[in-house]
Amino acid sequence: MARKKIALIGGGQIGGNLALLAAQKELGDVIIFDIPKAEGMVKGKALDLMQLRPHDGYDADISGTSNWDDVKNADVFIITAGIPRKPGMNREDLLEINLGIMKDVAANIKEQAPNAFVIVISNPLDAMVYAFYKVSGFPKNRVVGMAGALDSTRFRTFIAMETGYSVQDVTCMVLGGHGDTMVPISRLATVGGVPVTDLISSEQLKKIEDRTRVAGGEIVKLFGNGSAFYAPAQSAIEMAEAFLRDKKRVIPCASLCEGEFGIEDYFIGVPSVIGAGGVENILEFALTDKEQSELNNTLKAVKKTVAETDL
Ligand code: APR
Repeated sequence: MARKKIALIGGGQIGGNLALLAAQKELGDVIIFDIPKAEGMVKGKALDLMQLRPHDGYDADISGTSNWDDVKNADVFIITAGIPRKPGMNREDLLEINLGIMKDVAANIKEQAPNAFVIVISNPLDAMVYAFYKVSGFPKNRVVGMAGALDSTRFRTFIAMETGYSVQDVTCMVLGGHGDTMVPISRLATVGGVPVTDLISSEQLKKIEDRTRVAGGEIVKLFGNGSAFYAPAQSAIEMAEAFLRDKKRVIPCASLCEGEFGIEDYFIGVPSVIGAGGVENILEFALTDKEQSELNNTLKAVKKTVAETDL
């Protein structure tokens, strides 16, 4: 069977790590695409990664390009094209610049690979994935945003740090938009099946929820220039792998809701089943009144940013 083809649109901080992880997992051949000004940079990254492969024998070709023809018929696209945040910025502050980039990227992907599965990472996430969907005209199961996967992994990390138990045994989810209004569902968080609410106090849990909501900003502040890239890259790779290997993983993703959780026609973080069919299903479950009202609140924030796209 021929190897799959993974196209990374944007070869910056997240893009470079996506290439590394995709190669290490042998998901397929990797093409890193960037603008002509950055062509040398992505060609250089690709060559560096090619030379890392012999150590563990990863059989994947990695190349860099600024020519759209080179991503023709790729199976998966992961989009990080755009600019990241600087300290003091909200993700929404990126809208104007990143929307223009996303429109261009969507039109080109539509032309080069009309049957691809597309994972959007560029921010403001919920509006960018919506923009891709509108401009490309792709079916909803083949367009998804990476946010909940990352927000949940941040929530898991903080629970593991607070309890002192293995991060591997922490299960939890964060729903809603990829902004400060996101909704960590503490009620369902467990450590090895034991409810977290029985392990730590509600004050401790509240602190963890608050830290989760602004976890991206915490890193932006520390960096002083740019935003997180290791965990975002791994989160998107989990999603790509679920698709390529038909794993039917259940991952919180920004998927198009058409009535689920009372949300109509917006991409927002909900538990999504990812397999060979792309986003195959959204798993709905009963929320408490408080959770539903928090979800309504985050939806309001998403709607506001989406309205600004004029799409
Ligand atoms: N087509 C392809 N690539 C582009 C385009 C375009 N039209 N415009 C910009 N890029 C590239 C840049 O040249 C750069 O290499 O996108 C890359 C972005 O990389 P970084 O600046 O390092 O940003 P990164 O940290 O990877 O974040 C990318 O993901 O999490 C979000 O908020 C973050 O929107 C940001 C995006």
